[in-house]
Amino acid sequence: MGRASHNPSGRMVRRRQDLRPVRSAGEYRRMDRQPRPGALRVRHDVFEGRVESMSQTDHALTTALAQAAATAGRAPSVHNTQPWRWRVLPDTLELRVVRDRQLTATDPEGRLLILSCGAALHHARVALAAEGWQAVVERIPDPGDEDLLARLTGLTRVGADPEAMHLVQCMRIRHTDRRPVGDEPVTDSALTEITEAATAEGVRLQQLDRDQVLQLATAASQADTVESEDPQLRTELAYWTSRADDVGLPAAVLPESPPQTTVPGRDFGRAGTLPVGPGHDQAAGYALLYGDEDEPITWLRAGEALSAGWLTATRLGVSMVPLSGVIEVPSTRAELRGVLAGMGYPYLVLRLGRADPTHAGPPHTPRLAMEQVVDTSAVRDT
Ligand SMILES: Cc1cc2nc3c(=O)[nH]c(=O)nc-3n(C[C@H](O)[C@H](O)[C@H](O)COP(=O)(O)O)c2cc1C
Repeated sequence: MGRASHNPSGRMVRRRQDLRPVRSAGEYRRMDRQPRPGALRVRHDVFEGRVESMSQTDHALTTALAQAAATAGRAPSVHNTQPWRWRVLPDTLELRVVRDRQLTATDPEGRLLILSCGAALHHARVALAAEGWQAVVERIPDPGDEDLLARLTGLTRVGADPEAMHLVQCMRIRHTDRRPVGDEPVTDSALTEITEAATAEGVRLQQLDRDQVLQLATAASQADTVESEDPQLRTELAYWTSRADDVGLPAAVLPESPPQTTVPGRDFGRAGTLPVGPGHDQAAGYALLYGDEDEPITWLRAGEALSAGWLTATRLGVSMVPLSGVIEVPSTRAELRGVLAGMGYPYLVLRLGRADPTHAGPPHTPRLAMEQVVDTSAVRDT
């Protein structure tokens, strides 16, 4: 690893470790023992993604950590499962996977589960950078505790990053729009920016050429058939598309009829209420997120890359829709490996295009209340 790396907004920065003074383990322990000046009370505002401290300003770090965790709740997740839980400590933020919300039939290995958590991790990193904090990110830091996916620690003040501030704005408007895209293709420069943002997170993103898109279309259609014929998968999908609470997919974000697309989107097994119009998304582009390994740590990075690419796409007015059916079915995932000439492991397919500007698009998908995903008990006064 070189001495420079990308910050969450994609700019090259000196690595965090190069900038901070080295502390001994004893010093860290002494710092941990220091009494905290005054108690912190945290007020939650889930929908604004805001957490306000009502204590002195020297609790700015703890407040920023809690706020970053709340903001990360806006991240995309497979079937809107939101399978993450954050723990706020006085100078550390921990991300844990919630296996209760794993799609055990659709995603038995947990690839999409961890990928979703990776998207939340990237959201939190960007939110911290927007508030002027830089963190050391330890991914899957404890071999004995594989549910602990990340620890953000060693936080230092570096000044608010304007690009990250812009991306936080994009988090508020980013959403999945499953309607056909418009006739105007995404420009090469936009595709390059999106690719650079994603690949800065340590995985690869390949824009597919025409022949590869046709191969993808065949594989996606096969995956659809396999999934629609599997009763366990159908039951699981029905569960996540028929809930009327803060997880899963409401009817308002699901197409009222199958959109005309080159590559079939997921068949959700039920009609929604989202009008799709007569358009055909011929101008859509498709890309494959992939990497050299097929391990939880690379799935986590793939999720960070998904978030980085999607937020950049949002900033550029580009609509992105993940397509994971082809990844979920082992035989079609193997076909996608063929598209990559066996050079890597596919993590996710992405559809890219310009959203129809004449329609506002689907509403935002609901999110869990902050209390359900952010544990502030270690920093709250009693
Ligand atoms: C790993 C992953 C896989 C996804 N797979 C699909 C998919 O196959 N089809 C689809 O329409 N949306 C897919 N999505 C989008 C989610 O359904 C969406 O992010 C979630 O419902 C939250 O909605 P939002 O993106 O509008 O905030 C996927 C998202 C993630 C993170």
